[in-house]
Amino acid sequence: MVLFGTTSELIFDINLIIQIVLIILLIIGYTQKRTWKYHGTIMGVGTLAMLFTVELIMAPSLVANWAAIALFPTSPGSMFTMIHVLFGTIALVIGLIFTIRFLYFALRKKPLTCGTRTQMRIQFAIWILAFIFGLSFYLYFYVI
Ligand code: HEM
Repeated sequence: MVLFGTTSELIFDINLIIQIVLIILLIIGYTQKRTWKYHGTIMGVGTLAMLFTVELIMAPSLVANWAAIALFPTSPGSMFTMIHVLFGTIALVIGLIFTIRFLYFALRKKPLTCGTRTQMRIQFAIWILAFIFGLSFYLYFYVI
């Protein structure tokens, strides 16, 4: 069964939907900074959801397809995958650092100085780039 009528397996359609929801959450968390607690909670939830989809869906797919990537490292599909994995891993690591700092300060009722505005903007851009290359992967392998 497929959701979008593409050649993708159901689990990757579900992943695509989750990633679109997370991008919407990211934009809400980025633009609607009512309080830093509200902003940090939205971003923290989004980052943890991203961690689960990486662990349960994307990392297993990477491992399963590693032989093909190693065999044809310069093919467009391998390039999309590797650039996506690079940006995705950076976004995940930085997001987890911000989330851990947020929880640490929030639990101790200290000022929520989780990162600078510039660091947050860089993280936002990297997350969007990871999404764009993930979407490119999906379109390249399952639509075109
Ligand atoms: C900000 C973080 C990330 C975002 C927004 C993101 C987004 C996406 C999207 C939209 C897709 C296409 C849907 C699909 O085919 O499942 C995808 C696929 C994929 N992602 Fe990510 N991703 C992120 C992090 C990662 C990380 C850290 C890895 C490394 C393990 C990774 C590995 C993959 C792989 C291997 C696929 C292809 C899955 C398939 O076989 O279809 N992603 N990602």
